[in-house]
Amino acid sequence: MKVKKAIIPAAGFGTRNLPITKVVPKEMFPIQGKPAIHYVVEEAIQSGIEEILIIISRSKTSIIDYFDRSIELENFLKERNKSHLIHKIMPPSVHIQYLRQPVANGLGDALLLAEPFINDEPFVVLLPDDIFIDKECDLIQLIETFKQVHSSVVGVKYVEDDLLKNYGVIKENKVKDNLYEILDIVEKPQNHPPSNLAVVGRYVFNPDIFSYLKKVKPDKSGEVQLTAGLKGIIVDKKCFAKEVVGERYDIGTEVGYVKLIERMNINDGK
Ligand code: UTP
Repeated sequence: MKVKKAIIPAAGFGTRNLPITKVVPKEMFPIQGKPAIHYVVEEAIQSGIEEILIIISRSKTSIIDYFDRSIELENFLKERNKSHLIHKIMPPSVHIQYLRQPVANGLGDALLLAEPFINDEPFVVLLPDDIFIDKECDLIQLIETFKQVHSSVVGVKYVEDDLLKNYGVIKENKVKDNLYEILDIVEKPQNHPPSNLAVVGRYVFNPDIFSYLKKVKPDKSGEVQLTAGLKGIIVDKKCFAKEVVGERYDIGTEVGYVKLIERMNINDGK
């Protein structure tokens, strides 16, 4: 079955990047003149996605404006002999819808709002604060794996010991090279992480994830965590992890953002 739909949750407050995220969503942080979320939308298109739902909050209307056409600006560029710039401001060639998460009650809560959009089809989730630089698009590989195993697939990446406490970390059973069955998943392990394989922000889900998310109770901070939904799947059925090869930059941290900008400049020979 073709995987045609994607959800991009972008309704978080981005507290680690304050104060700038008070007015500039981290999804709109510039990377060589384009906002981060544009790269994620391009990745989805490259992977064959035809419909995208971006989940936003009240303070993120700049994302809607960015992907909209600006006839006024197009006309201005035409009148001022700058028509060669128009291609830069055209929206990407994919159908994008938006939905507001009224309260930032966690990634799991944001995904639950998207259930009517998904309408019982498999779908991908791309977290827009994880930016990938890869020659071969990892999301394509995740979708291929999903088609082979007929189960939800989570992207994971090897992370050094000292950084594991920032991620969801899996306990795994190796199936073959780069493919693991997930036996358990621990969110931000402070001691004794179960492996060095940390979840990255790319997932391919069967729609049954919604029934598991609905059973999840909010955590101490009131958030419905996606990790808790994944734990539910693992109890009942199989869920797999595929190791991705691309370079991942977590722009939810200042260090990650700076490293990405440096990397892009090296790419450009600057
Ligand atoms: P994070 O865990 O990075 O949360 O969310 P955050 O609010 O963006 O940032 P910090 O931790 O406060 O610094 C991962 C992804 O899930 C989205 C975020 O926008 C981000 O893309 N998200 C998170 C939602 O859409 N809704 C939420 O309630 C929480």
